[in-house]
Amino acid sequence: YDDHRGEYYEINRMAARFFYDAFTKKANRGYSYMEGRGIAPATLKKFGIGYADGEWDSLYRFMVSQGVEVKKLQELGLVSTGKGKCYDRFRNRVMFPIINTSGKVIGFGGRAVSPEDSPKYLNSPESRIFQKKNNLYGLNISRKAAGDEGFLILVEGYMDVIALYQSGVHNVAASLGTALTENQARLIHRYTKEVVLSYDADRAGRAAALRGIEILRKEGSKVKVLHVTDGKDPDEYVKKNGRDAFLELVGNALSYGEYKLESAKLGYDLSIDEDRLDYMKKAVEIIAAMSPLEQEIYKKKMAGDLGVAESAIDRELALREDRRASQTAEAGRKTRREEDAPEER
Ligand code: GTP
Ligand code: MN
Ligand code: MN
Ligand code: MN
Ligand code: MN
Repeated sequence: YDDHRGEYYEINRMAARFFYDAFTKKANRGYSYMEGRGIAPATLKKFGIGYADGEWDSLYRFMVSQGVEVKKLQELGLVSTGKGKCYDRFRNRVMFPIINTSGKVIGFGGRAVSPEDSPKYLNSPESRIFQKKNNLYGLNISRKAAGDEGFLILVEGYMDVIALYQSGVHNVAASLGTALTENQARLIHRYTKEVVLSYDADRAGRAAALRGIEILRKEGSKVKVLHVTDGKDPDEYVKKNGRDAFLELVGNALSYGEYKLESAKLGYDLSIDEDRLDYMKKAVEIIAAMSPLEQEIYKKKMAGDLGVAESAIDRELALREDRRASQTAEAGRKTRREEDAPEER
């Protein structure tokens, strides 16, 4: 069957071209904005960055002049309708075409140029050719480098991808403004078996990294984690400190186990006995979820880190197993009692 995907890809390609021309052919706020953020012409071209101007209907009029059906523009989220009039969805925004690994323009991310414009980012809506959960920004460009380098650096945002790429770090992609999905993990796994998570250095970024670890490991990927130590995200860091400094962070990235243990530690003062105990309980839970060989490694780390005997951790793990076993047995007895009980009428 044919759901006319080809026509929709073609319309998005035309739109990308339209935004690119507006960006490159005469002075505009989008270009100044990206220039101000230190992105060079060659990088802008590589990513096909464009500009949606501030008019109400430039793209709409162009598309209609090319004979494109309005309902297709609406379905792609390029045009919206209100009070019987059609207007462009993206106005006064820097436009990032989102291109899949087959080279098709499947959607756009639009970044506000004015600080007072909200939302900061506006993305294409889901359509027959665009599902956020199945795609990553930049993977069309980075999959080869990811294969060659043996790992992909996963970041939060469009600007992180672009700034790292410009600095010479080419094995980088971003999930599309949402939490990493299983499908995205599967897609990455096709090109490389290791991922270095480099999310923003804030609470949200840490929480997203902890969730990302589980999803990537379920897919069978090796996972490491880093958070930049200067600035709030990889874009800010690499602009300030350069490629080599960023690659040093990558080289020192924590293994997933170290990262989970480090994260569990946040907020505890280990010089206070109660805090120490609370952290140790959490750490034991983390270690208990690992495979036997991983447990060997991380028990040593935990023991060294906290100055406790590994045998104490072993006993905690054993006690935990006993508790679980008796809980399971109790739950079993309870279900049987319920099954035996005469049905209520
Ligand atoms: P820039 O450096 O200008 O991109 O800002 P930032 O680093 O503060 O971006 P942030 O870390 O907040 O966002 C990272 C990514 O999340 C962006 O690249 C977007 O994909 C997405 N995002 C951020 N803000 C919004 C928003 O308001 N709406 C939507 N839909 N996505 C957003
Ligand atoms: Mn934000
Ligand atoms: Mn953020
Ligand atoms: Mn950010
Ligand atoms: Mn940023």
